[in-house]
Amino acid sequence: MIAEAFHKVFGSNPEVVVRAPGRVNLIGEHTDYNNGFVLPAAIDRYIWFAGRKRTDRTVRAHALDFADVVEFSLDAVERDSLHPWSNFLRGVSKFLESTGHRLQGADLVFGGNVPREAGLSSSAAVEVGAVAFWEKLLDLRLDPVDAIKLARRAENEFVGVPSGIMDQFISALGREHHALFLDCRDLKYRHVPLKGDVKIVVCNSGVNRALAHSEYEVRVRQCREAVEQFRKMGMEIESLRDVKLGDLIMRGKGLDKVLFKRASHVVTENDRVREAVNVLEQGDLKHFGKLMNDSHKSLRDDYEVSSQELDVLVEIAQRQPGLFGARMTGAGFGGCTVNLVQRDAADPFTKAIQEGYQKALGLHAEVYVFEASDGALTPGAIKP
Ligand code: GLA
Repeated sequence: MIAEAFHKVFGSNPEVVVRAPGRVNLIGEHTDYNNGFVLPAAIDRYIWFAGRKRTDRTVRAHALDFADVVEFSLDAVERDSLHPWSNFLRGVSKFLESTGHRLQGADLVFGGNVPREAGLSSSAAVEVGAVAFWEKLLDLRLDPVDAIKLARRAENEFVGVPSGIMDQFISALGREHHALFLDCRDLKYRHVPLKGDVKIVVCNSGVNRALAHSEYEVRVRQCREAVEQFRKMGMEIESLRDVKLGDLIMRGKGLDKVLFKRASHVVTENDRVREAVNVLEQGDLKHFGKLMNDSHKSLRDDYEVSSQELDVLVEIAQRQPGLFGARMTGAGFGGCTVNLVQRDAADPFTKAIQEGYQKALGLHAEVYVFEASDGALTPGAIKP
């Protein structure tokens, strides 16, 4: 399909086609920028890129999902507020060049089926897809972790969102039928098999994440402030990752009240992720689900990033047979919930969610059943 789209626009077959998946985070929310632990999975929804080299330094990019086109020169890469979608591509090409990779102009089309503005990281998929595209087109040799860091720089320094590294990491290095356990401090990771008769069901609240950007920045700042306050008490820590539950109980009272709540979430969430990995490896989905439910409570009450719609979706889910656990996923303030559901209960679960959500709030929830998939840079990944 993407090759056909390229042909339609540029009149020839593309030289390369790559794809990068979106992601859903199973547990470990708002922990990545605190140097903590996360457990996301790549989903079987992708952004595809197709393109060919040019002989000059011009990039001509068609965004199929926006029916829009931009042209820019690799010699003057600047932010474009009229075509914000293009900033992911611009940022990636800028940082590839500034890290020593000489690029060449390209004609390209890109687009896909990762739901947008839903907290499923369609933007990370564009960034990682763009890196993978240049890598394949020009036969660049990049270490995957360097590629991931570069994609994140595009998001942080070019697009201007102070996000952590989780989304780019999982879009690049996810694995089919596995979640990925990542330590965001040293970037060591391992894939954890998703075994058993279980489905990842994601419910889209349909609510625009209007607050997500500004409140996200507030949370990042509050976490930094909590670290400073702990340091003033004499604790030698770099990030909230270094705070143990015992420290929180002993010293937390000395923190500003709101900062205490934020720190409580991060400290307990990091513990939950480690426990979740253990129980998942033992195949104890019931216990895993309980940790997901606890994570939701913590995000709702201590981190305060949930919303009425997300809470309603989680409450309905938790009443359904065959559910192991349910929680909001991603940055919050709208977007999606993630649910671990027994395989044969997935259909009735979907129906119950949609009916319940309609009845409670008069809103329609789109429901997706995802399979964990390969990342764009995963060695041996299935080809697009
Ligand atoms: C967004 C960010 C991630 C992460 C999550 C919350 O998806 O891009 O880095 O912080 O929010 O866990």
